[in-house]
Amino acid sequence: FASRVPISPLNPDSPLDYDRQISQLEAVKYGSQRPLTLTEKILYSHLYTSPDHAWNLDEIRRGETLLHLRPDRVACHDATATMALLQFISAGLPKVQIPTTVHSDHLVVSRNGAEEDLKRGRIEHQEVYAFLSSAAKKYGIGWWKPGAGIIHTTIFENYAFPGGLIIGTDSHTPNAGGMGMLGIGVGGSDAVDAMAGMPWELMCPEVVGVRLTGKLNGWASTKDIICKLAGILTVSGGKGKVIEFFGPGCASLGATAMATVCNMSAEIGSTSCILPYSDSMGRYLSATKRENIAQEANRYKDVLLTADEGSEHHYDDIIEIDLDTLEPHVNGPFTPDLSHPLSQLKEAVHNSNWPVNVSHAMVGSCTNSSYEDLYKTSQLVSQAKAAGLPRVRTPFMVSPGSEDIRATAEAEGILQSLRDAGAVILSNTCGPCVGQWDRTDVDVKGRERNTVVSSFNRNFVGRHDSNPETCSFVTSPEMVTAFAYAGRIDFNPISDSIAVDGSTSQLRFSPPTSVELPIAFTIGDNLYQAPVKNAAHLSVNIDPQSDRLQLLQPFKSWEADSVQDMPILIKVAGKCTTDHISPAGPWYKYRGHLEHISNNMLLAASNAFLPSGDSKLLGHTVHPLNSTTGVIHEVARDLRDRNVKWCIVGDWNYGEGSSREHAALEPRYLGGVAIVARSFARIHETNLKKQGMLPLTFADPVDYDKIVLGDRVTLVGVEEGEMQPGKQVGLRVQTKEGRVWEAKLNHSYSERQLKWLRAGSALNHIKETILS
Ligand code: F3S
Repeated sequence: FASRVPISPLNPDSPLDYDRQISQLEAVKYGSQRPLTLTEKILYSHLYTSPDHAWNLDEIRRGETLLHLRPDRVACHDATATMALLQFISAGLPKVQIPTTVHSDHLVVSRNGAEEDLKRGRIEHQEVYAFLSSAAKKYGIGWWKPGAGIIHTTIFENYAFPGGLIIGTDSHTPNAGGMGMLGIGVGGSDAVDAMAGMPWELMCPEVVGVRLTGKLNGWASTKDIICKLAGILTVSGGKGKVIEFFGPGCASLGATAMATVCNMSAEIGSTSCILPYSDSMGRYLSATKRENIAQEANRYKDVLLTADEGSEHHYDDIIEIDLDTLEPHVNGPFTPDLSHPLSQLKEAVHNSNWPVNVSHAMVGSCTNSSYEDLYKTSQLVSQAKAAGLPRVRTPFMVSPGSEDIRATAEAEGILQSLRDAGAVILSNTCGPCVGQWDRTDVDVKGRERNTVVSSFNRNFVGRHDSNPETCSFVTSPEMVTAFAYAGRIDFNPISDSIAVDGSTSQLRFSPPTSVELPIAFTIGDNLYQAPVKNAAHLSVNIDPQSDRLQLLQPFKSWEADSVQDMPILIKVAGKCTTDHISPAGPWYKYRGHLEHISNNMLLAASNAFLPSGDSKLLGHTVHPLNSTTGVIHEVARDLRDRNVKWCIVGDWNYGEGSSREHAALEPRYLGGVAIVARSFARIHETNLKKQGMLPLTFADPVDYDKIVLGDRVTLVGVEEGEMQPGKQVGLRVQTKEGRVWEAKLNHSYSERQLKWLRAGSALNHIKETILS
C-alpha cells in the first residue's frame, strides 16, 4: 500500500510510495543477486513500464540502453519555462500529468539590492510573470513568484526527497542529490514529454564512484570536493555518467553542503550526482517540516536509499578523495575545471595576466546560498570587525537562496552584520550568476579587464556581466569573504594576514565553523501560487503584438534531399557553450519569443573561417553566397529566406553548459539542418534532436581540421529508410576548387528519436501520437 505520506506537503495528492519502487526494482532484477548502486536503484525503480514491455536487468547496458523513465516531478525556471510552456500549450493537453513547478528566479536584474531590484523586476517582466501565472493555473502547475527563491534551493526545501527522480530545465538540477534524489537537467521539450505523461528517455548512464574518507577540516568545504573533481575530470569528463559518492566520509557532511557538490557536478558535464541517505538528510527534512518523509526514509534506508553492499565492484570507475587532506580550491578563470589548490594559487596568479586586485566578490547562487553558507560568511565578518576591520575592501554582494533563508538570516542578524560590513544584499534570485547584473563599477562595454570571485558554479567567458575580459573565479563562500577583505586573488587566508588600516596590527582569519541548520527556520513571505484543480474555464492570453511572447508554429516535417550541397554557416573554433550559442543577460527578455531571441544566435562564437584573436569578429561569419563578412544570425536568416539549407561544423563538447533549448531552437528556426561536431554535450545533443536538427559527430575527429572556407557538404545516408540506430552516415565534402572527399559520421539516434526527425520535431511527434 502507498504510504499516506505525500512526496511534498505541497503535493498532498501524490504519495511517497517506496513499496512500489521496491517491487518494481525486484521485478527488474528478476532474481538477480547482483548488488546495485544507488543510481541504479533510483533509475530502475522509475522505469516506465507498459503491458508490452517489462524491463530486465540483463537487457540494460550502461552507455547503450535508452531507458524510458517516469520522473516524480518536473521543475522549470522562468527563463526556460516560457518556451517549455509554449510547447506544452501547443501539444494540446488539458493539464500536466505529474507534479510540476515553475520558479521565477532568472529574470530579475541585480542593481541596487533586493527591495529595489525586485520591485523593478516585477514591473519589467510583468507580462512574462502574468503568462507564467495564468499558464500555471490553467495547467495545474505550482508557480513560485519572483523573490521566492532560486529554483534548486526551493526544490531542496520543499520537494527533494530521498530515492526520488526529478528532471528540471536547468543544468544544476543534480543539486537534489544532496537529498539522495536523482536530479537531471534536461531541455524544455524533454520536460514537456514528462509533463504530458509520456516516457522520458535517458541513455543509461555509467556510474563513477567517488569514495570519501576522513573529515573536512580547516578552510576546506564541500565546494572543494567538486572543485577538485572538476580539475580531475574536466568539463566533459562526467558526460554520460552519474557521480555517486560512497564511503565513510559521506556521513559527516550536511545536506545543503552535499547539495553544493551535486549542484556543481554539472560543471563536469555529468548526468547527475548523488549521495546515499544519511542522518543529516533526515535532520534537514525535519527542519523543513517533512519529518514524516524522514521517518519513511529511515525505514527504507538500507533496501532502497543506499547502494547495496558490494556494489562498489560495479562502478565504472572509482576516484578516492581524502577529506582529511583536502585543500581549499579556487577554480578559473573562464572555465570551472581550471582548478587551483590554494597552496598553488599564488604562483598561478603571478605567472598569469589575470588582474590581482579583485573588483567584486559575490556569495550566492543555487550552489552556495544556504543558511550554513551565510552563517560562515558572517563569522568571518565578525572576526574582521573584532580585529578592527569594519568593512570589506572589495564591493561585496550576497544573495540568499530562498525567502526562508533570507528571513532566517535577517531574524538572526546575519544579514545586518553583512550590510554593516559593506555588503549589498541581493534578492533571492540568480542575478550575477546568470548575467543579470547591471554592472557599473568597471567599463563592461569597453571590455575592461578585471577579476571577480564568487561562490557560484560557472565562470565561462562573459557569464556574469557579458564582458569577455572579466576573469571569474569560483570557490567557497568563506574563501570569497576572505578575498573580499584582502582585495587580492593571490591571498591565502591560511598563511597571509591583512593589515588593519591605521594600526600596526594584522588580521589573520581563523577558518569558520560550520553550523548546518538554524535552531528553526523563520518563515518568510509566502510567494507561492498553488496549482488550481478545476481550471477548464481559465485561459492563457498572449498578445499577438508582444515582443516577449510568441505562440510557436510547428516546424516543417523532414524534407527529402534537404541535406544536399549545403554551405557551412560557421566552423566553430574551440569552446562553444550554450552561452556562446544563445547568450543570456539582456537576451532573457526574449526567451518566450523565438523570432526575437534568434537575433543572438552564436553571437559569442569564434569562427575558424575568420582570423583568430580579434574579439570583434566573435559572432561573425563569411556569407557563403557573396563572401562578405557579416553577423552570423543575419547571414543565417538571409540563407533561410533564399531557401538555402545550411549546417554548422562544431568542435569538442559543442553545447556544453546550461540546458537552454533556445540554442537548438534558433538554428532550426533560421534554416539550419545539421550540426557536425567533434563531440556534443549531452543535454544539447538531445535538444537538437528534439527540435528536428541533426547532431552528428566526426568518426575521425581529425576530419574537423580538413573543413575549410568555401566547402559545401552533403549528408549521405540520412534519408528515411536509410538511417538506422547505430549505423554510421556519411559526409561528402566538395571544396571550392571542386575536389571531393568523404568522412564517416556517427549519430546516437534511437528508433523513437528518428521519428522526431521525420516529424520535424519531438513536439510534432507527440501531437501525432496524442491525436492518433
Ligand atoms: Fe540560477 Fe546560477 Fe543556479 S543561474 S539556477 S543561480 S547556476
